This record gives sequence, C-alpha cells and structure tokens, in this order.
Amino acid sequence: MAFLYNAWYVAAFSKEVTAQSPFSRMLLDRPVVLYRDGSGAAVALDDRCPHRFAPLSRGRVVDGALECPYHGLRFASTGKCIFNPHGDGRIPSAAGVRRYPTRERYGAIWIWPGNPELADAVPLREFGFLEPEQYFTGEGYLLTGANYQLSADNLLDLSHFQYLHPNTLGSDTLARGTLQSSDDGEKVWVCRQASAELLQPFVAQGFGVSPGKRADRELHVRWEPPGLLTVMVRVRETDAPPETTRVGMSAHWLTPETESSTHYFFALGLPREMGEEGRTLVQSSVEGLMAPFRDEDLPMLEAQQRAIGTRDFWAMAPVMLSIDAGAIRSRRIMERLIASDGAAFDTDLSGVLRGVAGRPDREVGP
Ligand code: FES
Ligand SMILES: [Fe+2]
Repeated sequence: MAFLYNAWYVAAFSKEVTAQSPFSRMLLDRPVVLYRDGSGAAVALDDRCPHRFAPLSRGRVVDGALECPYHGLRFASTGKCIFNPHGDGRIPSAAGVRRYPTRERYGAIWIWPGNPELADAVPLREFGFLEPEQYFTGEGYLLTGANYQLSADNLLDLSHFQYLHPNTLGSDTLARGTLQSSDDGEKVWVCRQASAELLQPFVAQGFGVSPGKRADRELHVRWEPPGLLTVMVRVRETDAPPETTRVGMSAHWLTPETESSTHYFFALGLPREMGEEGRTLVQSSVEGLMAPFRDEDLPMLEAQQRAIGTRDFWAMAPVMLSIDAGAIRSRRIMERLIASDGAAFDTDLSGVLRGVAGRPDREVGP
C-alpha cells in the first residue's frame, strides 16, 4: 500500500513544537524533526543528518538553526547546511537535508510530504470551528497501532457506538437509526439519525439534555482526503423547538506514522460566546471522549491490524454491510488519488530533496 504524498497532513499540535527543543515524529514512514526558527515559524526537516545519519532531533536549536548532536553541522530552516565546525569550514555541496513545506492553522502544524512545488497552490481543508480567536478549543492525541484507513472506517461508521461504546456514546436507538451516505468524488458525507433516544449520561450532559429525557440525535460525518474528518453532532430534546438544538463540532485528523500505525489527532471547538461554560465543556468533552477512544477504539483498531497483518485489505474479501457505504467511498477515493499522485516519495536516501543551494540532488516527482 502506498501513501498519498501530495496532500497536507497534521504533523503535530502547535503546542508540541517549540523553539527550544527539536521534536521528532515519524510521518508517512519518514523520520521528521520539527522545531521553530528565530521568527517562531514551524520548520520540518528530515530527521537524519547527511553526514552519519544521526537524528537531528537529538540536537539543539542555535540561532534559529538546527545543530547536529554528533559532529556539529548546522542546518538552516531551508535544510541547507550553513556551518561546518571542522577543517577549513568548507560546506560540502551535498550537505543538506530535505525541508518539508509547513503551515500552521487550527492549533496544528501541517506538513506537505510530496512535491514541494505543488504545496503553495493547495489550501488547507476548512476547520473554522477551531479558529482560536472565535472558539475555545481542546485537543487529544493517540498513537494507534493500525493503518489510518481502519481509523477512517471507524469514524465513518458510527454504528459501532452501540457495540464498542455501550456505556458512553451508544444506544440501541442509535444503532437502529437511519443512515445516509454520499460523496462528490472527493469528499464523503455520512449521516446517522436517531429519534427519541435515551442518551448516555456523558452525551446528555454535554448537550444539555435533562436526565431521563429522550432526545433526537444526528451525527454528521464529513471525510476529506487524506484522512481529515469533521463530526457534527446535533442534539435536542424530543419535541423541543428546533432553536434549542445544541451542536458539537470535532475534527479528527489521521496521519500515517507507518503503514500499520497512525497519529490520531482530535480537536473540539465551542464558540467563545458561550463564556466559561464553553471553556469548561470543551475540556470535559476532550477528557470524556479520550476514555472510549483510548480504552475501546484503540484496542479494537490494533486488534484488527494484528488480524490483517501485512495482507491487503481487499484481497481478504471483507464482507460488506450497509453500514460500510461511507467507508468504502473514502477508500475508493483514496485509491484513485494515490494512483494519480505524481510525487514518488523516495525512500532512497540519495533521492531526497536536499536543501543545497536551492537545487535538488535529483528530482522527485513530476
Ligand atoms: S552525524 Fe551529523 S555532523 Fe556527523
Ligand atoms: Fe469509537
């Protein structure tokens, strides 16, 4: 299985990356080091010194440049080597590391692992409910030992609430609710609706439903490549006027660590107009969701991955159910995008773009 390289992925939450300590993360099977330069901008470089391949993330940031911990070569945020403490100080032309385009928005640092020349023209996906000026936001992260598409399947099919999360998120009524899915060739939407549902206390509390009251719940999931999901939950007490509907928005960002492991970032936002209640609710919701995600979804995803091993998903002839429509749509879209993805992402060290005088050692991609 290949990855989609020409796409924006979340590399880290903004708060994880500082100007003081380089931060290491494996992304799409490549070691990447993240830090902030003198201007505070996020920098992402290959986490492998071109001299003897020491991890640069074990080094330190000196005047906005990254110093290798082994023999002291220093690299600018362009990836170009700018200082050699040895001999006459001459800098070999091959002394550079690949720099990845980055952007910072929605409380996250985004990385473009594909052809850098294509990055500028591609906007980030919209997650307006995470703009910190207008929303209180809360974040959670889990490293999951399973392929990212299994996580996408999980989020695109919330029928599992009743079976995997019976005491926190699910209900019989939801499992029997109506289900619709659609796509436009690039995005996928799945909507599950339930009426007169007796919500679990965690959900009822979060949406202001009085204890013992029944409620109507809608779960709208939007999937966008390469694994960026928005979940909108709409809840109101059954028979209450529509204007009493409460809405919860969450983002779920899946970034492959390897073929069989995934960085799962999730984030919630509530309007600042809600005042203190909004701030508290965001935090309690993150903590409340972390428990089922960590204790129920994650072990299931990892068990699925162990059962699949290195086999191809389709070659295993998975049985299809009506609940799979959204997940299948997303898998088909990803397969098409990966097939047409122009930038071969070289795993061969000699093939990586290096930050040497602005020229690649060898071209990658078209
Ligand atoms: S390994 Fe980095 S300078 Fe030697
Ligand atoms: Fe789940």
